Amino acid sequence: MGKNLITGGFGLIGRSLAKLLLSESKEVVLFDVASESRLPKDIRDRVNITHGDLTNWVQVIDAVKNNDISCIYHLGSLLPPTTEQNPAAAFAVNITGTFNILEAARLLGVDSVIYASSLSTFGFDLPQVIPNDFPQRPPNMYGVTKVCSERLGEYYYSRFGINFRGVRFPVIMGPGRVLGVGWTAFTSLLIEETALGRPYTIYVDKSTSAGFLYLKDAAQSLIDLNRADDERLTRRVYNLYGFPATAQDLVDSVKNHIPEAQIDFKPDQAMLRIIETQYAVISKRLDDTPAREDWGWSPHYLLDQAVEDFIKEVRTNKAIDE
Ligand SMILES: NC(=O)c1ccc[n+]([C@@H]2O[C@H](COP(=O)([O-])OP(=O)(O)OC[C@H]3O[C@@H](n4cnc5c(N)ncnc54)[C@H](O)[C@@H]3O)[C@@H](O)[C@H]2O)c1
Repeated sequence: MGKNLITGGFGLIGRSLAKLLLSESKEVVLFDVASESRLPKDIRDRVNITHGDLTNWVQVIDAVKNNDISCIYHLGSLLPPTTEQNPAAAFAVNITGTFNILEAARLLGVDSVIYASSLSTFGFDLPQVIPNDFPQRPPNMYGVTKVCSERLGEYYYSRFGINFRGVRFPVIMGPGRVLGVGWTAFTSLLIEETALGRPYTIYVDKSTSAGFLYLKDAAQSLIDLNRADDERLTRRVYNLYGFPATAQDLVDSVKNHIPEAQIDFKPDQAMLRIIETQYAVISKRLDDTPAREDWGWSPHYLLDQAVEDFIKEVRTNKAIDE
């Protein structure tokens, strides 16, 4: 059994996945272009770190060759708004990067490639519940790069037998989202800031709604999909879903745990227009029936459990840092 490589391993989901794999005594290699200062010490001391850029073929193949990798969790990606501000970089990192990972897996006989795709692969005229195999016509560059990566993975599966598997995440809620990245970041920052005793202003309407998955469930899903029996898989990429919540639901849940939390609403009209036109998908439910049937997927955290665990994590980590 070789090691687990996590691309984008310093990111939100990568760090959580690394923790889970380490708790199962797995060997973990993190591949990332960012500074490792974002890694908590309890992870940094227990993983191998390979600095590299997904767009650089030599760095990618070396990372896989030099570390005896048997599974690649491919999470490295640019996300909105960076993808929309710089489509060329989005193409290079998200599409060429995925191609490089699949090629490295093919040439070096890696057992499996597990990919994190997104609800943003779906576009307009969506039903309220989006079936797993609904046509994907994304309205933005981010979604285009994620659809392209899904199709590349399927091609490598059917042409070369690469064991490519992927999930489409809804909005991930969890501690450690980078400040200001993506409009949905407020959903996590609101909990993180109030757990630390700071006030928070929400820049969408109380009724703005989204579908969520708690960070720990997202990380666990990747491990579960990797372990799933191949004979039971009816497709290579699966919708996942946790729970729906409006901005007001989030506030109510936070106030159940932190009654003194200071949260107010100051809706930003430009932001609301972007959400309506570009991200209508966010309020839809991803039908995750195939994932439930094929590999027993189900989320452990719904809104209140997620908020409770989130607050506990933030306060515990703050206490450790002090
Ligand atoms: N967070 C969400 O709500 C969400 C929802 C759906 C899908 N996803 C997908 O899950 C994956 C992980 O997302 P996340 O929330 O952890 O994002 P993140 O931004 O926290 O992490 C992404 C990581 O990729 C790294 N990266 C960027 N460019 C790179 C490059 N050229 N070479 C190597 N590494 C590079 C970044 O440094 C970062 O550490 C992504 O593929 C994302 O598209 C996330």
